[in-house]
Amino acid sequence: MISHTNAVIARLLPILLLTLLLAAGCSDMGDPVSPDDNNNGNGDPTPADTLSWTGDIYPDIISTYCISCHGASFPQGNLDLTDFAGWIDANSLSGNPFVVPGDPDQSELVWRVEGTNGLARMPQGGQLADSEIEAIRTWIEQGAPKQ
Ligand code: HEC
Repeated sequence: MISHTNAVIARLLPILLLTLLLAAGCSDMGDPVSPDDNNNGNGDPTPADTLSWTGDIYPDIISTYCISCHGASFPQGNLDLTDFAGWIDANSLSGNPFVVPGDPDQSELVWRVEGTNGLARMPQGGQLADSEIEAIRTWIEQGAPKQ
């Protein structure tokens, strides 16, 4: 009985694997302009992927994880993330630009959410999902547009 079941599995397994491979291949081929701002995690931005502060980064990430401490009243680290014009071209208290458009690796905003360069990771007491950090990186690579 057991060996019969094993034999059936042994015959079906290659077919199952092939079906899975084909299905995965087809979905990649069939959807070449799939946007990555839906956090599908392929890390592969396409022209359809232009992210903006007002349309994506602020409502999807910042308003949820940052504004409790970086809102207009008593902003921590003197950083009010509700006032885009007030911080986007500014330097942090440590003297680094918050954002260098086109260069996420030079942007303290990225260091903070990744917890690199010896600065406390943000949000304080937690951390963003990889897909959210990737969205912030992509937005900065695209020039950090407001709209
Ligand atoms: C629980 C409170 C809290 C939350 C939530 C929080 N922060 Fe902070 N943040 C702080 C405190 C306190 C400081 C100042 C101490 C420091 O520089 O580490 C700070 C400092 C910063 C600085 C440096 C400010 C400067 O002028 O030097 C940045 C950038 C920053 N936070 C980004 C973020 C981002 C982005 C989020 C959301 C992903 C976030 N923070 C969420 C408390 C918080």
